[in-house]
Amino acid sequence: MAKFSPVPGTADIFPEESAGYKRIENCGAEIFSRYGYGELRTPIFEYTEVFQRGLGDQTEVVQKEMYTFEDRGGRSLTLRPEGTAGVMRALLNTDVMNGVEQRVFYHGPMFRGERPSAGRRRQFHQIGVENVGKIAPELDAECIAMLSHFLEEIGLTDVTIKINTRGIMSDRVESGNALRKYFSEHIDDMCDDCKNRLEKNIWRILDCKQDNCRKIIADAPDYLQFFSDESKKYFETVCKTLDMLKIKYEIDPLLVRGLDYYVHTVFELSHHSLGEQIAIAGGGRYELYLPGQNRPLQGVGFAAGIERLMMVQEILGVPKVQADAEDKIFLVGLGDEARIANIELAGILRKKGLKVALEVEPKSMKAQMRSANNFGAAKVIIRGLDELNAGTAAVKNMENGEQQVVSYNDLINNL
Ligand code: HAM
Repeated sequence: MAKFSPVPGTADIFPEESAGYKRIENCGAEIFSRYGYGELRTPIFEYTEVFQRGLGDQTEVVQKEMYTFEDRGGRSLTLRPEGTAGVMRALLNTDVMNGVEQRVFYHGPMFRGERPSAGRRRQFHQIGVENVGKIAPELDAECIAMLSHFLEEIGLTDVTIKINTRGIMSDRVESGNALRKYFSEHIDDMCDDCKNRLEKNIWRILDCKQDNCRKIIADAPDYLQFFSDESKKYFETVCKTLDMLKIKYEIDPLLVRGLDYYVHTVFELSHHSLGEQIAIAGGGRYELYLPGQNRPLQGVGFAAGIERLMMVQEILGVPKVQADAEDKIFLVGLGDEARIANIELAGILRKKGLKVALEVEPKSMKAQMRSANNFGAAKVIIRGLDELNAGTAAVKNMENGEQQVVSYNDLINNL
C-alpha cells in the first residue's frame, strides 16, 4: 500500500472526475425539478436507531455493513448507509404525516462496509428521490418514469428495468408460510446464507445468486396467488401506467430488494455492460418506521449509484461535454511588464465571468502556448511591451488559428 493512499473502498476525486459527478447531479436536479422535486440535504450521520428501526434490524446492511461509532456523550451514531431513513427523519418535521405530499431529491456520499470491488465501494455516492405522504400506484409509475427520463438525459441507453410487487405486510403471512414450507424441504442443499434466511428473512432467499440455490428457487411456489386482490390491482395499475408512458420493463418475481421497508412496487435497474449483479439504481414503495413512531411513513423513491452511472457512461462513450470551453481564455505575457499587467487583466476578466489562466512565472512564448492548450483555452490573448504601450492586444482563436489585433478597451468590453 502506498503510504498515503485512501482507505480501500474510498477514493480521492480529482477535478476532472468531480466534473463528471457535477454533470450527473446537475442533470438530476434539472429533471427532478420538472416533476416538482426540491433538494433536501440531510446530515451524513444519524443516531444509529434511525437506520436500525428505519431499514429493519434484520437487513444485511444493518447487520453487517454499517459504520457505527460512539460520540463523546456515549450516543451511538452511524454514517448513513443510504439516504431514505435520514430523509424520512427530516420529513417528520413537516406535515407528511397528515397526508401532505413532499417531493425531495438528494445526492451525496453513503457508507457501507462492503468488500471493495469494481463498482462496489465503502464510500459511494447516490442521487435519489423520495415522494412521501401519498399512496397511489400512479406515483410509483411516475417515479420509475422519472428515473428512466433522468438516465436517458445522462446518455444511458439500453437500461434494463425490472419490477415486482412485495404486496403489503399482511399479504406476506400466507405467502411466506408457503415459501417457508417449500424451502425447508430443500434447505440441506442450499447455501449457509439461505439457511440463515430461512429463519430470519425467508424472502431474501429468492434473490440468492448461488447456482445451486437458484435451481431450487426456480421451482418455488407462486407466492403472488396468496396476495390480496387489492395488492394485485395496485401492481396492475403500476404496470398499466408504465405501459401508457411507454416505459419498457420486465416483471421479475424473484426481485425482492435488500432493504426490508418495501411494500407494493419494487424495481431495480441494470446495464448489460456491468452485469445484473451490479445494479445502477433501485427503489420502490416503502413503509418506514422511525424510533418512537408507531405509524410508518409511506413513500416511493429510488437511488442510483453515481459511480456506477459514470462507469456505464464511460463504456458507452458518452461525451464529456465541456460546456464551459468557450469561456476559457489564456493570457500570454511577453516580458515582465506584460506578465504583471496580465495579472490585473485576469482579475478583470474573471469578474466578468470568464475562466482565465496564465503563467505567473516568466516563461517562453512556446511554453505559455503549451499551457494554453493544456487549459483548453478557446482564445489566447497575447501582449508584450509594444501592445501595452499601444493599448492593444493580439487575440488568437485557438479553433481556427486566426489572430487579430484589438484595442484593450474593446477587449475588456467585448470578450
Ligand atoms: P440500494 O439498492 O441499496 O437502495 O442502493 C441504490 C443504489 O446505490 C444501487 O443500485 C447502487 O447503484 C448504489 N450502491 C449501493 N451500494 C453501493 C456500493 N457499495 N458501491 C457503489 N454503489 C452502491 C437504497 O439505498 C434505497 N435507499 C433506495 C430507495 C430510495 N428506495 C426508496 N427510496
